[in-house]
Amino acid sequence: GFDASGHLRLAVQKKGRLADDTFDLLKRCGLTLSQSKNRLYARVQELPIDILLVRDDDIPALVASGASDLGIVGGNVFEEERAGGRLQDRVPMVQKLGFSRCRLCIALPKEKNYSGPRDLDGMRIATSYPALTDKWLADNGVEGAESVVMNGAHEIAPRLGVADAVCDIVSTGGTLDANGLAVAETILNSEALLIGGKLSEEKAKIAEALKLRIEGVQRSRD
Ligand code: PRP
Ligand code: ZN
Ligand code: MG
Repeated sequence: GFDASGHLRLAVQKKGRLADDTFDLLKRCGLTLSQSKNRLYARVQELPIDILLVRDDDIPALVASGASDLGIVGGNVFEEERAGGRLQDRVPMVQKLGFSRCRLCIALPKEKNYSGPRDLDGMRIATSYPALTDKWLADNGVEGAESVVMNGAHEIAPRLGVADAVCDIVSTGGTLDANGLAVAETILNSEALLIGGKLSEEKAKIAEALKLRIEGVQRSRD
């Protein structure tokens, strides 16, 4: 079962775009997964690795606490946890994976003119990235603006009147466009990252074997 000793634990997103790209990577690495009945984890056949299937937002904390040895997570989520001061340098290994690229952007209703950060003075910005948003606002001298935390459907916040702007992930731009919003600022460029804490000698060897396979896939893409 899940507790078999010596297995390396790798936390990945259970469902979503990052999950699709992550499972694609593992497949290209020549790794075959067999899922547990409860779908909370999967076993890798070729290496002693157990895959934890979780929400992407939980991955940095699971790795920081040592509950998982490694994780594959978007830079957006990782940087938000770090900016929020919740990791405390406990995630020393970070390797860029080059997929699931997206941008974290502040967006405004299309009809609003935007000429620079001061235009955001006093605004309420709906986001699930409050630490990154507040840091960017402070670094750019925006006054009296505040982030309003929403865990989904940020795009509708301006029309509901609960916010003036949003700060959210933009990939194709389709979601913003469908909601009458346009990018004002890009505050972070993101891609998938392999993150890891301090490992025992034995687990470090397994992690090395995984990284070699990932590097092989990356080389075949260039
Ligand atoms: C993100 C973001 C937008 C959407 C933007 O959500 O919150 O809803 O993608 O993508 P687009 O520019 O291609 O339209 P996603 O479903 O990736 O993750 P979430 O459920 O964690 O918000
Ligand atoms: Zn196991
Ligand atoms: Mg979304």
